[in-house]
Amino acid sequence: MRTKIVAGNWKMNNDINSSITLINDIKNGLAQKELNVKVVICPPFTSLSIASELIKNTPIKLGAQNMYFEKSGAFTGEISPLMLKSVGCEYVILGHSERRTIFGETNQLINKKIKSAVDNGLKPIFCIGETLEERELGKTFEVVETQIREGLQGISETELSDLIIAYEPVWAIGTGKNATPEQAEEVHLFIRDLISKIYSQKFAENLIIQYGGSVKPENSKDLMSKPNIDGALVGGACLIADSFIKIIESAQ
Ligand code: 13P
Repeated sequence: MRTKIVAGNWKMNNDINSSITLINDIKNGLAQKELNVKVVICPPFTSLSIASELIKNTPIKLGAQNMYFEKSGAFTGEISPLMLKSVGCEYVILGHSERRTIFGETNQLINKKIKSAVDNGLKPIFCIGETLEERELGKTFEVVETQIREGLQGISETELSDLIIAYEPVWAIGTGKNATPEQAEEVHLFIRDLISKIYSQKFAENLIIQYGGSVKPENSKDLMSKPNIDGALVGGACLIADSFIKIIESAQ
């Protein structure tokens, strides 16, 4: 039985003050609720410290949106896994399509980051997904397979025990046009089968595969009721406490 995970990727939004407000609103909205879903928030680096304080003694967990693979050194502007651990992060989003397309991250770089995250005790939320052009050319499975094979290259099943995969079709991110539950389920099933071929069936069965891309309270229940969709990675809708809470509730 897989426990669903709903994670909020804040992207480059919220300064300290608005972070405090949003976290308090999420906390209050979730208080007294019996949660059988895991909840993760991923604020920008500058708000991680305050977020960590505010979520103490709540079921909410903390994640970062990116990291570099080295532990320390002359890497101006970068953040290391040890720094994320020290501020209270348990999760880290890696390979987000915005990192790939805007900042040129390759599967090879993402592979190093995933290896470093697991070596340093962080749970990677590894994002993959095809562009609209790739989908229209019928290349979805091919693209997703390459991202997975290259992203996880040389990393063992034991090392990946805390891996989460987030399937985020690029054409669905920030467009308001989510994949239909059927479209998402088809790819999630493909991912699980592929993982069982690369690793073991048991590992594949336990793997959490989230869907991301225009998840809203209006579509989250239908998406997450599919057998292979184990939660959501939410962008825009996680910036409004009420919508984020509704999405969490719909995963119950
Ligand atoms: P939206 O929910 O805004 O489409 O963003 C999805 C996403 O990129 C989450 O990582």
